[in-house]
Amino acid sequence: MSALQTQIGKLALDKPGMVASGIMDETGASMVRMLAAGAGAVVTKSIGSEPRAGHANPCFTEVKGGFVNAMGLPNPGIEEFGTEIREAVPHGKIVGSIFGANAAEFAKLAGKMEDYGACALELNLSCPHAKGYGMEVGTDPPLVKQIVAAVKDAVSIPVWAKLTPNTHLLNDIALAVQDGGGDAVVAINTLKAMVISPEFRRPYLSNRFGGLSGPAIRTVGVRDIFDLYEAVSIPLIGVGGISDWRDAAQYIMAGARAFQIGSAIAKDGPEVFATINRELQEFMGDNGYESIADMVGVAHE
Ligand SMILES: Cc1cc2nc3c(=O)[nH]c(=O)nc-3n(C[C@H](O)[C@H](O)[C@H](O)COP(=O)(O)O)c2cc1C
Repeated sequence: MSALQTQIGKLALDKPGMVASGIMDETGASMVRMLAAGAGAVVTKSIGSEPRAGHANPCFTEVKGGFVNAMGLPNPGIEEFGTEIREAVPHGKIVGSIFGANAAEFAKLAGKMEDYGACALELNLSCPHAKGYGMEVGTDPPLVKQIVAAVKDAVSIPVWAKLTPNTHLLNDIALAVQDGGGDAVVAINTLKAMVISPEFRRPYLSNRFGGLSGPAIRTVGVRDIFDLYEAVSIPLIGVGGISDWRDAAQYIMAGARAFQIGSAIAKDGPEVFATINRELQEFMGDNGYESIADMVGVAHE
């Protein structure tokens, strides 16, 4: 057994690093490429019931320490997406990310993703820039519990909930996921943010605000995973600002059994996975960790 193998509930991954939803994961070919680059799994772009164009440009910009985006959940819709995900499934583990406005819509999308061969589901309860979706439904604990329970009833694959840091209720929301029968919590999605153009005297993004990702949010994500580890007993998956093995190790030591990478793929290319796999394994060997499980949560001791 490789030291990098990890277990998220019933789901085993050969490597602990996954592609985060929204980056290089909307076509079959790009998902296959990311698996070949060393990702343990790919989380798909968040998919909804109907095709969506997303927000008008500009919807993405680089800032010091990361990116701010307000893509607005552009996606081809669940029917069209079947062709893409089916192309990738034979090559490795694909987690289907979905977004809906209510429990019934989430449950319907979940069933489709399971039919397409997804190994798990990630419920997007956290996008900060899509009206009626994401964090607008994901910051109400009773509604979160209802959504998770409805999806659990509809499928037999593991159900993960991806949460927003834009709330003081994070632990309550995670407990709602656990009470609803959820199999894991993924944290964090982007932090609500804004860039203003001094020349134009107005917000730079067409949507005015967006979500901050990249190194600037890592300390927030690590702290959230640290808190969640003490609040819930279901497995945690860390995401936010990971670009090297030290970042990944921080999330694992805070309590995550696996991690996801988004912005660093855009910045450094898919090679980031092979580098982290190699260097994390070296660190583990040098420090006597025989498995990822040995390292999970050690910062709490
Ligand atoms: C361009 C872009 C698109 C994204 N799209 C999604 C999405 O569709 N669904 C989702 O749950 N998160 C989405 N995210 C958030 C990422 O999955 C991740 O939670 C966030 O970027 C923090 O990780 P990072 O710092 O490694 O990028 C997106 C992020 C970026 C930068």
